[in-house]
Amino acid sequence: MTNSISNLNYKIREANDQDLDAIMELENACFGNDAWDADTMHFEVVAHHTYYLAAFEGPTDQGKLIGFAGLSKIPGNDQADIQTIAVSQAARGQGIGKALMLELLKEARRLHTQEIFLEVRADNPAAQKLYLALGFEHIDTRKRYYQPDDVDAWVMRLQFAKTSIGREPVVLGIETSCDETGVGIVRGNTLLANIISSSMDEHARFGGVVPEIAARAHLEALKPTLDQALAKANLSLKDIDAIAVTNGPGLGGALMVGIGAAKALSVAIEKPIYAVNHLVGHVGVDILERGELQTPTVALLVSGGHTSLLLVRDLINDVELLGETIDDAAGEAFDKVARVLRLKYPGGPEIDKAAIGGDPKAIRFPRGLSLPKDMEKHRYDFSFSGLKTAVARWVEVAETKDEPINVADIAASFREAVADVLVTKAVNACLDHKVPRLLLGGGVVANKRLRELAQERCDAHGIELRIPALSLCTDNGAMIAALGAQLIMAGRAPSSLHFGSDSTLPVTTVQTL
Ligand code: KG4
Ligand code: ZN
Repeated sequence: MTNSISNLNYKIREANDQDLDAIMELENACFGNDAWDADTMHFEVVAHHTYYLAAFEGPTDQGKLIGFAGLSKIPGNDQADIQTIAVSQAARGQGIGKALMLELLKEARRLHTQEIFLEVRADNPAAQKLYLALGFEHIDTRKRYYQPDDVDAWVMRLQFAKTSIGREPVVLGIETSCDETGVGIVRGNTLLANIISSSMDEHARFGGVVPEIAARAHLEALKPTLDQALAKANLSLKDIDAIAVTNGPGLGGALMVGIGAAKALSVAIEKPIYAVNHLVGHVGVDILERGELQTPTVALLVSGGHTSLLLVRDLINDVELLGETIDDAAGEAFDKVARVLRLKYPGGPEIDKAAIGGDPKAIRFPRGLSLPKDMEKHRYDFSFSGLKTAVARWVEVAETKDEPINVADIAASFREAVADVLVTKAVNACLDHKVPRLLLGGGVVANKRLRELAQERCDAHGIELRIPALSLCTDNGAMIAALGAQLIMAGRAPSSLHFGSDSTLPVTTVQTL
């Protein structure tokens, strides 16, 4: 079987004739007068031109059947139909219908379908909303189609063909949301080039990223970085099928440099442009290493600019922000504490070095937003400014008392506090949402203790931990290209040239049209 998805709530696998009795029971319960008879159902489930899925309660297919769905596609014809989809009354509201639909769409794409049709009752707005969100349009209405209720049917269509180029698209990705100028090139899910130019050194004497300096550095670095990426991929601009660019979240001025360049390129080479979300790019990068993103997954993204915990049910359709920092980003905390300890910028690697031989239990620094009263409102949010202040105060008190400062102990204890709170909240998110996967991203993932602790706690709870290569974890253009390619392969229309930068772009906006 090709597709099998599961989390602890439900398991979806291809249906077979053993499932028939349970399917018929659900069919009758859901469709009453309109239900198919058992013979028709049997024929459709086992037919060669159909693809039927069954969803079961719990983590294995031993649970109760709670949903099923089927797709039909006659070989040689590039159209397909969603024949049916049903979810038991009791299991609604858990995203099972959507998960079934996403699997059917995946299969349709695999079969090189160009258009896919379905019918839905005019009096079922919840289902219509789901189909619209998945890219279907309402193209026709069949009057009084459902009898005896006299209810109209909406005919809906999803066109994969509009933007499909009939092969894996070559996508150029541009990333300029912070201090890395990234240009990446992918072909479908395959990485061809990932070139990064960083202005980090120019920020060193300020101890943090200075937005104006970053924007100017992007302007200078873009052309050489682009040339290098094309050379690495052994391609020229005429080989590029589409351009993807980060339009948020990030530093406004820095984003605008990348967006301007991407739009200019799009017009010059007459190729479509896709404006994509930086944070979702961090998640999608996993595709370049594994060929696909396993979902659902929780993602913890930690860098100098962001600290976000996401629940990703589907990369391009369903990303939810569970929590984020309410003050400093995790990397920023490393940078600020490094300054307090008179270490260099960027602080992360310096603190990792300074912590060698230190005792992580020497000082119990605060774990932000972890007290029971905070956990109610901020269960998945982070706060690092209190921790930074606690370290500063510790150093100050020691200095006024003229006591020696044990930098190794302070660095190790600080690092432990950051890693502990990040991992605790990420693992909680997995357990609460019954998601057996955690993906890490962002520059702070380089931190040794964070990696170690994440592995330990994930192992203890049977959660699969994914850490992409560091060159794909830090900000880069390849992740943006990869996300662009996913959108194209899903048949999404390109963005117009009117989009701008949005420094607070929400994760729910994967693509800005
Ligand atoms: O993702 P990234 O390269 O880009 C930006 O945020 O722009 O992340 C950089 C951040 C910096 O704050 C840096 O101090 C932190 O990642 N960092 C680390 C480590 N290496 C880099 N933090 C903790 N431990 C590290 N080993
Ligand atoms: Zn980032």
